Amino acid sequence: MTFDESVGGKTKAGSKPKVLGIFVVFIVVAIAGSIVVYSLSGWSAPAAARNLKDPFPSTPGAVASARNDYAAHCQSCHGSNGDGRGERAERLSIAPADFGDAHAMGLRTDGELFWIITEGHKPMPAFRGTMSAEQRWDLVEYVRGFSAHK
Ligand code: HEC
Repeated sequence: MTFDESVGGKTKAGSKPKVLGIFVVFIVVAIAGSIVVYSLSGWSAPAAARNLKDPFPSTPGAVASARNDYAAHCQSCHGSNGDGRGERAERLSIAPADFGDAHAMGLRTDGELFWIITEGHKPMPAFRGTMSAEQRWDLVEYVRGFSAHK
């Protein structure tokens, strides 16, 4: 065969994997991008919600009522000591957060915790309709208590 033919053969054979390679990179970027977008839009509270402040004063009565609400609505997933190991936890698609993790909890503002409790996030239900705003704010403080002394 001539020199020309062999060069032509090489470029032809080499161009297919190149196209395939670009295609694969494109798919990987598209999937990674949608995962990032999904996780950000799913969990991060809107800026306005992050800056919310608890308008209700902390009282012994508020702590007692939050303890009852926690036992009734949260404990089955989040566990009696807030470690995320409630009796329903194993059957959930996503493991509940460990409220005892001071570092992770420190990354959340009070407003953000309030927003999460209000809006929920599958498999966690929304509590907007179940509890008053005051009850939900009291729970923010109660949940913070699990990591307060670590
Ligand atoms: C059906 C189980 C379930 C119940 C009931 C539940 N949660 Fe959750 N919760 C979860 C799961 C699962 C996550 C983690 C979701 C994720 O990371 O996408 C979570 C996350 C949270 C977070 C976010 C923590 C963080 O920083 O990531 C807070 C705060 C929270 N729950 C509070 C509560 C409170 C308060 C209640 C009761 C009023 C409650 N949850 C009831 C399952 C539950």
